[in-house]
Amino acid sequence: AYVNGRYQDMRDASVNIEDRGYQFADGIYEVCEVRGGKLVDMPRHLARLQRSLGELRIAEPMPLSALSVVMHEVVRRNRVQFGIVYLQISRGVARRDHGFPAGSVKPSVVVTARTINPAKGAENAARGIKVITVPENRWPRVDIKSTALLPNVLAKQAAREAGAYEAWYVDSDGFVTEGSSSNAWIVTKEGRVVTRPDKSGILSGITRSVLKDALEALQIRFEERAFTPEEAAGAAEAFVTAASMIVMPVVAIDGHTIGSGKPGPVALRLREQFHRFAA
Ligand code: PDD
Repeated sequence: AYVNGRYQDMRDASVNIEDRGYQFADGIYEVCEVRGGKLVDMPRHLARLQRSLGELRIAEPMPLSALSVVMHEVVRRNRVQFGIVYLQISRGVARRDHGFPAGSVKPSVVVTARTINPAKGAENAARGIKVITVPENRWPRVDIKSTALLPNVLAKQAAREAGAYEAWYVDSDGFVTEGSSSNAWIVTKEGRVVTRPDKSGILSGITRSVLKDALEALQIRFEERAFTPEEAAGAAEAFVTAASMIVMPVVAIDGHTIGSGKPGPVALRLREQFHRFAA
């Protein structure tokens, strides 16, 4: 792990108990895919990271190019070929007080990397995952990739306890926003790929933005609009996207089978083609 300037064994790595990330979840994070030892879509991840820091007025702890070097180095030291790299930046260490600390506090930086067996993802993708729906109960600033994820933790746990893999939030108007750790998509019976616009209610996913490029290049019809769980249940296909899952087919929502009950051809094709369009 990289912790505030030092590379350490994970077992020895630790942060101060008065870190605001620990006490207030006053921080932001990124998760990037590692594929063949390389970090996927770094420029977009770094741009989103910079935006998240700006929205929370957390200082950039080092230039983005240096952060990128650290992330590559943690991946290299852990010999990760396939997996993820996690980067977290908190506002820093200060005596507990809700308002920002007076004076300049150094933000804390933690980077870890972990191998994920690609066979596991392939297995899930071949079977397709189930989702449940839960009422949207998060703050309106879900566009910020904040480490304050308690509602997401509870939603994911609810999914697990229901025998599902992901939970989709449904807003007060009855529309799906996104998953607890992924963006939500459907494919209509007419073959249109649909996902919610990133103007409100969702994190602007990097996988989502790359997939939009892929859809355009592959000339697959695409609509950016909100959809309901009922529309998803009656759709031809559904899937989720995230750096940790790429394109993952969804075969059931709240116990209703979607399409054939098997991963759909569009989702599987997009999963297969994804890295052609990733940087
Ligand atoms: N989650 N929406 C939410 C709430 C997320 O947490 C994520 C990613 C996404 C997809 O974003 P991206 O395509 O940039 O990964 C959408 C990461 C993987 C996580 O928290 O582990």
